[in-house]
Amino acid sequence: MPQAEPLTVLGIETSCDETAAAVVRRSADGRGTILANVVRSQWAEHAAFGGVVPEIAARAHLECLDDLVSEALAQSGVALADLDAIAATAGPGLIGGLLVGMTFAKGLAIAAGKPLVAVNHLEGHALTAGLTDGLRPPYLMLLVSGGHTQTLAINAIADYRRIGTTIDDALGEAFDKTAKLLGLGSPGGPAVEHAARNGDPLAFALPRPMMGRAEPHFSFAGLKTAVRRAAEARTPLTDATVADICASFQAAVADCVIDRCRVALGDVRARGKGMRTLVAAGGVAANAHLRQRLLAFCGIEDLTFTAPPLALCTDNGAMIAWAAAERLAAGLADDGMAVAARARWPLDEASATVYGSGRLGGKA
Ligand code: KG4
Ligand code: ZN
Repeated sequence: MPQAEPLTVLGIETSCDETAAAVVRRSADGRGTILANVVRSQWAEHAAFGGVVPEIAARAHLECLDDLVSEALAQSGVALADLDAIAATAGPGLIGGLLVGMTFAKGLAIAAGKPLVAVNHLEGHALTAGLTDGLRPPYLMLLVSGGHTQTLAINAIADYRRIGTTIDDALGEAFDKTAKLLGLGSPGGPAVEHAARNGDPLAFALPRPMMGRAEPHFSFAGLKTAVRRAAEARTPLTDATVADICASFQAAVADCVIDRCRVALGDVRARGKGMRTLVAAGGVAANAHLRQRLLAFCGIEDLTFTAPPLALCTDNGAMIAWAAAERLAAGLADDGMAVAARARWPLDEASATVYGSGRLGGKA
């Protein structure tokens, strides 16, 4: 049954390289308040390997999750006994980390006698604008992170339709690989953005994969290869060349993303969905150049543009707590005790069937 009571939820996130815990309150009229939001990034642990190492990630989550949860509860001033539910990310993501988070949450839920909500990480990103901006569906969503690149029709809570997805690399992955081959630090996205500030976006003519195509999907593998070729042709790289490559890369990415949003918007408009808002979320939505371009696109298309504050674009526990609270309030939360951690978990189960289990399927 839909619940018109205030809800206070603890959210736990361990799907990739951020260990996070948060306490969020949802008022009876649907407004959200973050009471505590603690994130511990594992960048330092993975830096030497040039990418996230799943085994190291799982162990790092295990080492600090109990402290992080205690810290979040202490900061929020909410006692475990006063929570309405405990929520944890069950997927998609790296299975070791997901197992740590879900197992911890199950144990805590049993010990505290609280219901457990198993949350889809993508739903966390998709609903964050409700927490930060009070935005209610329907809206069009651009989800761009290290593992996911999708356009989605967010029709209602628990009613999502994926429109486009990547046929190869995720956009965050393309940023991370670009940073790595240019010798920039990690995480790659912020490093590329920082270097691009001093660069000329017209210096390198990089490709815009999928641009102009009617099908709604994304592709970044060709762009990544072109960046590698450009870098190899200019070795040894100067700071100025690195800046130019980064600026040219960001410009190409933004052109592709805007074009894909245009196709997704055409799709929802053709279905008669009166969507007035475009929401960008996921780690790459923290990119200032991309945000500017999306804002300009929305101006032309008569859409309102919304993007969560930077700290809530990247992975966090507040989005997990909030997604659980929204599901609980709508009477749509399953019993998390019966849910197993899963590396693949598409937001709309229907598109998993449409695309099968390949790159366009559950992982994407
Ligand atoms: O959502 P997120 O924190 O984790 C996943 O669910 O994947 O996204 C992380 C990704 C990384 O690839 C990171 O390089 C990218 O988001 N990212 C950025 C920026 N900040 C983070 N990409 C471009 N520009 C940024 N400012
Ligand atoms: Zn994420």
